[in-house]
Amino acid sequence: MDTALPHDVPSGTPAGLPDPSTLAQLANAFFKALPGGEAPLTTPASVPDAGGVLPYAAPVLAEAGNPAPAGSPFAGPGGTGTGIPGAALPQGHVPGGNLLPAAPTHVLSLGNRAPSLVPHAVAPNGVPDTVTTVAPALDPRFGGAALGVSEGLGAQRPPAGGAPLPTSSPYYFLGESGLPGAASGGAPDIVVPHWNDVSAQSFGLPGVDQPLSAQAFPYDASVGAVPGAGAPGHTASRYFVDDAAAAHAAPGRGDAVPRVGGSAHPPFDVHAIRRDFPILQERVNGRQLVWFDNAATTHKPQSVIDRLAYFYAHENSNIHRAAHALAGRATDAYEAARSTVQRFIGASSPDEIIFVRGTTEAINLIAKTWGVKHVGEGDEIIVSHLEHHANIVPWQQLAAQTGAKLRVIPVDDSGQVLLDEYRRLLNDRTKIVSVTQVSNALGTVVPVREIVELAHRVGAKALVDGAQSVSHMRVDVQAIDADFFVFSGHKVFGPTGIGVVYGKREILEDMPPWQGGGNMISDVTFERTVFQPPPGRFEAGTGNIADAVGLGAALDYVTRVGIENIARYEHDLLAYATSVLQPVPGVRLIGTARDKASVLSFVLKGYETEEVGSALNEEGIAVRSGHHCAQPILRRFGLEATVRPSLAFYNTCDEVDALVSVVRRLSARR
Ligand code: ALA
Repeated sequence: MDTALPHDVPSGTPAGLPDPSTLAQLANAFFKALPGGEAPLTTPASVPDAGGVLPYAAPVLAEAGNPAPAGSPFAGPGGTGTGIPGAALPQGHVPGGNLLPAAPTHVLSLGNRAPSLVPHAVAPNGVPDTVTTVAPALDPRFGGAALGVSEGLGAQRPPAGGAPLPTSSPYYFLGESGLPGAASGGAPDIVVPHWNDVSAQSFGLPGVDQPLSAQAFPYDASVGAVPGAGAPGHTASRYFVDDAAAAHAAPGRGDAVPRVGGSAHPPFDVHAIRRDFPILQERVNGRQLVWFDNAATTHKPQSVIDRLAYFYAHENSNIHRAAHALAGRATDAYEAARSTVQRFIGASSPDEIIFVRGTTEAINLIAKTWGVKHVGEGDEIIVSHLEHHANIVPWQQLAAQTGAKLRVIPVDDSGQVLLDEYRRLLNDRTKIVSVTQVSNALGTVVPVREIVELAHRVGAKALVDGAQSVSHMRVDVQAIDADFFVFSGHKVFGPTGIGVVYGKREILEDMPPWQGGGNMISDVTFERTVFQPPPGRFEAGTGNIADAVGLGAALDYVTRVGIENIARYEHDLLAYATSVLQPVPGVRLIGTARDKASVLSFVLKGYETEEVGSALNEEGIAVRSGHHCAQPILRRFGLEATVRPSLAFYNTCDEVDALVSVVRRLSARR
């Protein structure tokens, strides 16, 4: 059900609110003040763009019709009134009603409806700035909710005459950022046991104040051989895990792992982190699970699991619809998650964040909306040789549909893109460059900032696929200057089925919708539809509300641990893993770029990759073996498949040793 029924409209005036007649006066004054408030009914022409194509949002205007008479207390839900008893709808057309949001950000609780009530400037693309005055559905809301202020957890009333309620939540997984209503004071009615503290103070890493670039990777010739590496049962130094004292030693040639020093930070406590991930206690084939399939999906900390359970226990509702309390809570939780994503990737506004199912859907959305509008016959689309199929196939489909060409940036033998070759591919026919930030098959960290800058020099847009990067390194979409950035929640410790499209605001505003239906509209008649501004325009139907909230919790968790701490720990763990796997006889590492993250792809002489995967599974070790949905890059190295251990910050050197000992045993047999 999309809207609350008329009989949901409360009959009384909630305590603390103005009475209905005062509200009506205020509302009437507001609508009268609209620039088009007195405008006569006219039917504006739809204006074709330069290519003679009608703009997507050009409405075919119909006679205004409002089934509920202005002022009726039933004229609220479903887009038929203001929702405020006694408040009349403005008559005539409202200039700009189909254009940009007046508010720069979402108004929580009102979801994405409130902005479309307010007229705005004339669009530069000639879209008519007039729309009939059937007001979009502004559901009746009361109290703080009507103002976009959540009632908070449990929507508790303060005890009569009692002390004020606490302003922060005892639910450890709901930080201030995830709880817009926290400031309004809401005590929970159910208390989840505070089973484990996670705080930024719990973690740290030696040398976190040094840039990662200050460290050498083992492929760097300046780093010496690894003493003890490869010897069964070796005890190579692992200063970053179990030797806090060593952490303060100066970096030196020949150290088992690159050392950084001079920091007072406590060591990164991987064991504390592991306790946050219940599945890591799972047993597989009689052994404790070792999860080295993080590039495929990551595990979820208890805080994410608890957040999802809390949502379904206390907040579950459809969003942006209806006047009831749970709709407000669910909407607020969902929009708070959008803001969390915005902060996490450094976007300038939550309106630049669109929730989708995952990276694949994200790239498809861009190719099928922006791409169809802007890419034509003879135009060129550039991807790199490293791409996942999700960043190849949608562009191929677009090229087939439009007559555009797909061009590919080659890589060198280490698996790094060749920037000079890329420069040669760019020209004034290049419309979009779409590259991964980290290769899922090889782990190569791609210099996306340079790639984006070069794309912009020829007037092309740039999309960065962050599916494999957001969990491993700080991402700042504004620093990269990406036009689009996409990622999946499940690869950053969040739920499956939720992902993100970031797009620069002005680009999203110029993009036609993708799917049509509920939620993405501000007004529908049989003759025409007026769409919401972004991001609502791209979120048709009931989305994955709970999992968006879960993604917000996952990003909060990563933020508490500290993405720089994670990046440093994983860098060192990957360096260690490389140093012990590479020397095993018969092992060939695939992907040896100097700058890598997480992935350790290899083949073992004499074995099919599935055989290695199965042997590891017998010891409870999970890796992916196969083509990793990136066949072109594996074929570049003459292969159809690799074994791919991929690391996360909950993995340990002991787990690496367990993997290497299986590979060593297999190696010794052939
Ligand atoms: N993209 C995922 C992987 O690399 C599925 O395994």
